[in-house]
Amino acid sequence: MDMINRPRRLRSCDTVRRLCRETRVSPDSFIYPIFVDESISGRTPVEAMPGQFRWGLDSVCEPVRECIEAGVRSCMLFGVPSHKDAVGSAAWAEDGVVQRAVRIIKENFPDFYVMTDVCLCEYTDHGHCGKLDGCTVDNDATLELLARVAVSHAAAGADMVAPSDMMDGRIGFIRAALDKNGFENIPIMAYSAKYASGFYGPFREAAGSAPSFGDRRGYQMDMHNRREAIYETELDIDEGADIIMVKPALSYLDIIRECRDAFDKPLCAYSVSGEYSMIKAAAAAGFIDEYRVMCETAVSIFRAGAGMLITYYAKELAEAARKGEIG
Ligand code: PBG
Repeated sequence: MDMINRPRRLRSCDTVRRLCRETRVSPDSFIYPIFVDESISGRTPVEAMPGQFRWGLDSVCEPVRECIEAGVRSCMLFGVPSHKDAVGSAAWAEDGVVQRAVRIIKENFPDFYVMTDVCLCEYTDHGHCGKLDGCTVDNDATLELLARVAVSHAAAGADMVAPSDMMDGRIGFIRAALDKNGFENIPIMAYSAKYASGFYGPFREAAGSAPSFGDRRGYQMDMHNRREAIYETELDIDEGADIIMVKPALSYLDIIRECRDAFDKPLCAYSVSGEYSMIKAAAAAGFIDEYRVMCETAVSIFRAGAGMLITYYAKELAEAARKGEIG
C-alpha cells in the first residue's frame, strides 16, 4: 500500500505515546478543596460526594497530610461556621473557622500552600453571597464585607485569597484593602467566569450554603454567554487579579479555551462538586470505569487550556500524574 502518513506509528507503544503527549500535567497542577466545620470533631462524610468529608478543627491536618503524601501541595479552604447571621459576620471573625484552620495548618505544615475561598454564602442565614437589600444582594455594601473577610484570612496566614462571590468590583476593592493592611504580596485568585450552575448542588450540602429563597442568577453568570466571560475576566485582570478562573470546568471547556487564548494570566479551572458526584455515581452503578473517566475529564480540562485544577480528585490525579498515567 502506497501510504506515507500513518498516525498510528506514534501510537504503537506506551513509551512513544507518552513522548508525543501534547498536554503535560504534573502533581503540582492540582488543588484540593477542604471543608472545615466548626461544629464537629473528627470527620463527617458528605453524602452526595462519596470519599469527601467535612473536617473538624481537631482533625483538619489529616486531609493536609493525605495531600502531601499524594504529592498535592495546595488546598482551597471552605468554612462551615456554627453561627450564621444576616450579614455573615462569622466570615471575618478573628477566631472564625477558616481563620483558625489556616493558623493550625500553617503551624503544622508551613510549606503547604493554603488558599481560602472568600464568600459569604456559608455564613449568611439566607445563604446568599452578600448583604441583602430586599430580595437582592446589595453589591456595593457587600464589597466592604468581602474585603474584611479577605484581610482576616491574610492576617491568619493564608497564602492566597479566592473571592467566589461574583459581586462587581470586588477584586479591586479587595486588592486595595489587602494593600492598605500590609498584604500587598498576597495574590488574588479571581473566580472570574463563574456560572450559575446546577453542578454546585452537592457542594451546598457539604458547605451548608444553599440559598433559602431564589437562586444566584442575579450575580453568577448566565450559561448561554461566552463573550461575557471575556468581559468579566478582563475586568478582574484590570482590577488586579493574579490568577483567573473558569468554573465549573467540564461544561465550560470552550470558555477555558477562550480565556487561555485571550489572556496571559495563569488560568485555573474548578471541577466542581457535581462533576465529581456524577463520576462517583455512574461508577458506583457500574456504568463507567471511575479511574479512566477521572483521568480523561481532568486531561480534557488541561487540554482546553487550564494550567491548574481545583478538584475533589486532586490526590488521585496527583498519583496518576506521578505514575505517568496522565501528563
Ligand atoms: C461559594 C462557592 C460555591 C462553590 C465554590 N464556592 C457555591 C456556590 O457558588 O453556590 C462551588 C464549588 C463546588 O460545587 O464544588 N460561593
